[in-house]
Amino acid sequence: MPSRLNRSPILCFSHIKGGVAKTTCCVNVGAGLADMGYRTLLVDMDPQSSLTDVFLGNTEPPAVSLYQVLYADGPGQRQMAISDVIRPVRENLDIAPASLDLVRLEHLLLPEVDGRDRLRRALRGHGYDFVIIDTSPSVGILTSNAMIAATDLIIPVQASYFALKGIENIMETFNTIRERVNESLNLLGVIITMVDKRKRHPREVIADLVEIFPRELIFDTQIREVAKVEASPGYHQDIFSFAPESPGADDFRAFIKEILTRCRNS
Ligand SMILES: Nc1ncnc2c1ncn2[C@@H]1O[C@H](COP(=O)(O)OP(=O)(O)O)[C@@H](O)[C@H]1O
Ligand SMILES: [Mg+2]
Repeated sequence: MPSRLNRSPILCFSHIKGGVAKTTCCVNVGAGLADMGYRTLLVDMDPQSSLTDVFLGNTEPPAVSLYQVLYADGPGQRQMAISDVIRPVRENLDIAPASLDLVRLEHLLLPEVDGRDRLRRALRGHGYDFVIIDTSPSVGILTSNAMIAATDLIIPVQASYFALKGIENIMETFNTIRERVNESLNLLGVIITMVDKRKRHPREVIADLVEIFPRELIFDTQIREVAKVEASPGYHQDIFSFAPESPGADDFRAFIKEILTRCRNS
C-alpha cells in the first residue's frame, strides 16, 4: 500500500507549446503512480488523443469519449457521467479517452454559461488518489476546463533555446484562472524535459526560467532525452513496462518522488 496523501491531486500538464513532453509526462507519471499502488485516472483533454492512443491504441476504439461527458449532443441528450466513458488500462490505472471530435467543443462550448466548468463538475467526487490531465498545445476552452478542474499545474519545458517561448501565455492563463475562477490552483512546478548533451545545458535553461519562476518551483529532476522513452508509446507502453532499467525510468521515478513530496507539502 502506498502512503496515502491527505488530498487527491488533480495534476494538469500544460504548455501552449507542442512537443515539450506533456503527453510523455502524463503517460509515465500516471503509470508510475499506478505501479506504486495509487489509484490513478488519466484524462485526455487533447483532441489529438495521443495519451488515449498509447493506452488504448491496440484495443477496440472507444465508442464514447470525454466529448459525451462535456457536451450533450442533440435534443433530449444528456451529458454522460465520466464513469460511463472511463476504460480500465491495468491495475490502478484507468483512462477517460479523448476523440478527435473534442476539437468541435472549442466552438460548441463557447456560448454555454458553464462551458469552462464542465470537466470540474464531471470530476466531482471522483474517488481516485490521483487524476492526471493531458492538454493540447493551446489555451482554448478545453485547456481552460482542464485548469479549472485541476488542483495543481505542472509545466513541462523542453531544454532548448526556445524554452521560454509560450511560457507567458500559459502563465497568463494560469493567473487569470487563479484570480477569477479557481483560486486554489497551485503551480506545483516546472519540469525540464528532453535534456540532451547536444542541446542546451539545463543550467542555461534554468538561468532563463528563474527570470520568471522562483528557483524552488523548478523540479530538481531533469528528464533526459532517452530513445526508449520515445519508442515506448509505439509499443503502447509506458517506460516502466517497456524499459524499467533505463535512465528514462530512473528519471521518471525521481520526478514522481518529487511530485509526491510537493503534493504532501502543499
Ligand atoms: N525524455 C524523452 N526522451 C526522448 N524522447 C522524448 C522524451 N520526452 C518526449 N519525447 C518525445 O518527444 C516528442 C514530443 O513529446 P510529447 O510528449 O508528445 O509532447 P507534447 O505532448 O507536449 O506535444 C514525442 O515524440 C516523444 O516521444
Ligand atoms: Mg501531447
